[in-house]
Amino acid sequence: MRRIVIVSNRVAPVNEAASKGATGGLAVAILETLRESNGLWFGWSGNVHEAPVDTPKHSAPTQANPFDTVTVDLTPAEHSGYYNGYANRILWPILHYRSDLMEYHSEHFRTYQRVNANFVSQLVPLLREDDLIWLHDYHLMMAPRDLRQAGVKNRIGFFLHTPFPSADVFATLPNHRELIASLCHCDLIGFQSPTDLRSFEDYITHEAGGQVHANEEFEAFGRQFRAQVFPISIDPDSFAGAARESSRSNIANRLRESLDGRALMVGVDRLDYSKGLPERFLSFEHLLDRYPENRRRVTFLQIAPYSRSEVPEYKLIRSRLEGLSGRINGRFAEVDWTPLRYINRGLARKTLAGVLRHSRVAVVTPLRDGMNLVAKEYIAAQDPEDPGVLVLSRFAGAAHELKEALIVNPLDYENTGEALQRALSMSLEERKERWSAMMETIRQQDITTWRKSFIAALEAG
Ligand code: ADP
Ligand code: F6P
Repeated sequence: MRRIVIVSNRVAPVNEAASKGATGGLAVAILETLRESNGLWFGWSGNVHEAPVDTPKHSAPTQANPFDTVTVDLTPAEHSGYYNGYANRILWPILHYRSDLMEYHSEHFRTYQRVNANFVSQLVPLLREDDLIWLHDYHLMMAPRDLRQAGVKNRIGFFLHTPFPSADVFATLPNHRELIASLCHCDLIGFQSPTDLRSFEDYITHEAGGQVHANEEFEAFGRQFRAQVFPISIDPDSFAGAARESSRSNIANRLRESLDGRALMVGVDRLDYSKGLPERFLSFEHLLDRYPENRRRVTFLQIAPYSRSEVPEYKLIRSRLEGLSGRINGRFAEVDWTPLRYINRGLARKTLAGVLRHSRVAVVTPLRDGMNLVAKEYIAAQDPEDPGVLVLSRFAGAAHELKEALIVNPLDYENTGEALQRALSMSLEERKERWSAMMETIRQQDITTWRKSFIAALEAG
């Protein structure tokens, strides 16, 4: 078996990720992938130093995590220009259809290019001739070109964990051609959903003047490559096992006791403006307004750990949510009932699985999202004899697969509030029917299928 070299911006501290909860779909999926196939994970350590050591840090495989990790640090200037500046204030909003939030500075692009080139120069000496190189996400879009310029002949794959927006939106980014020309040095480019692939095809045909042939073969910028859809997923049976076990744990008992028989609705997201959290809070407020019988009977638990806290747009959404949650609790709370519990901490995966199992309804309502693994985790965590209901945004990648969820447009918060009411009053028979269909879909397209099909397509050429 050929070695897989995974390269991503963030390398989750392995033990921490396993025990305390890795927040972010990329970290969760890569950990599952590398546990199933030994390899190497290369990327940023998460540390920022004025004078970083110029040799990457190597951590050897352990029994629990049978893969090598090699990490590099960033300087404060790199962290600010490459990660916060270009990746999070320019690319992230564009990829999520929010060009209005883009804060463009050409200096950030230069830093982004420099950091991509540094990653590549530190990676190249570690490569073996028949390694498969798998690059992840929008932080590393210049790396394919740099790898080829360094003479790397290995097969290179790239997977985008975010949406790929419509060609018109992507073209609002001043560097759109450089980024896509670099990506075309890959042998394979993977997207989360058919919508993303369609937008990319449109870009290649109409912006890049390239061609899209049968069998997902592309030609553009003088290169030939393939692009396909590989919907990322989870290991449903292991998540279900964790949920069963965790439902007997101390923390699950504490949660149950604190609810005092009330139905639990849950949302679990990194605190990001793409996740539709204000609209979600408004839909809960609508539910309490329009259907007062739910007052005292329902508790909404929103778990949203802080993410990218130095970025101004994230500070803004944070204060907006604090205001909204205060208002909702101020309006409806009683001495013995807090309608909205809003927590800004990550949970260990096992604890999270138990919380999801205990929730009558999960509300997964991003304004745009690559996949949204939480939707799949919620389904996997359910008790087959008494499953809960998933309320899912049509703009989450998962909506292409989980068609039996209650699908909503999160921008219409009143309508989402109506879906919450429907979810709360759904019969056991309908809940079971919808849940089994979704669980079957997740079993058919699990994390192993994702990994194997990407790697097979990358090897196939
Ligand atoms: P994104 O990659 O944009 O953060 P996803 O929903 O695809 O979105 O992935 C998020 C991953 O992080 C999921 O596996 C989820 O369980 C995990 N996660 C998110 N929030 C928390 C939290 N508060 N505690 C533990 N895990 C979390
Ligand atoms: O899945 C999208 C993503 O941007 C990943 O690339 C990333 O690891 C995750 O969200 C969390 O974001 P960050 O690494 O910026 O904390």
